[in-house]
Amino acid sequence: MKTIKALKWRYACKKFDSNKKISNKKIKRLKKAFNLTATSFGLFPLKMIVIKNQKVKNSLLEHAYYQKQVTDSSHLLVICMDTKMNDNTIDTHFDYEIEVRKTDKETLAGFRQNLKDSFAKKTDNEKEQGSINQAYIALGNLMTVCALEKIDACPMEGFNPKKFDEVLDLKSLNLQSVLLLPVGYRAKNDFMSDLKKVRKPLKKVIIEI
Ligand SMILES: Cc1cc2nc3c(=O)[nH]c(=O)nc-3n(C[C@H](O)[C@H](O)[C@H](O)COP(=O)(O)O)c2cc1C
Repeated sequence: MKTIKALKWRYACKKFDSNKKISNKKIKRLKKAFNLTATSFGLFPLKMIVIKNQKVKNSLLEHAYYQKQVTDSSHLLVICMDTKMNDNTIDTHFDYEIEVRKTDKETLAGFRQNLKDSFAKKTDNEKEQGSINQAYIALGNLMTVCALEKIDACPMEGFNPKKFDEVLDLKSLNLQSVLLLPVGYRAKNDFMSDLKKVRKPLKKVIIEI
């Protein structure tokens, strides 16, 4: 019930109290939660930018259609995807797995090659869409963790990723922004916080067989 209570407590925060800041301890927890996100084959084609700097947040406001959550939040999390997914990415991942788990190199050799073959068949668009999907998993994971940590958040795809990439110079890091998650604490007068959740009845969304 604790989980459901937290999920009912959370909402897409429209108005943050800009005076309330999230502690470093809690931000560290969010970073760890992000890193613990499950991704397809564990390749983790993602990075997260944590923006605390108010000037940087201000410069991004216009590129998020002036949604004030960007500037009023305590921290703006930008979930980004790697733009260079290639054999090297796969090798780096497998080499690291071997190091961490002390797995025999030969045991993983077939799997490693299969993965390379399957990526080689994908178009750039398919690879990009695959990475975008992983970003959404990270977003969902972070939103749940925020709810459990009593941190308010607003998932956002309402922004101009190209402009964000320019301002944050993401190209030089081989990254593209995919999603935003401003986090902080709700303002007392955010009328959205008291609204009832709009969700279909369970029997309309669950099929039991
Ligand atoms: C992927 C995604 C993108 C969203 N983009 C925005 C956004 O740009 N701006 C905004 O105010 N809310 C945004 N929302 C919030 C949704 O409108 C909100 O989650 C939905 O109406 C359900 O309400 P609740 O989260 O308060 O339960 C987004 C939500 C998701 C999951």
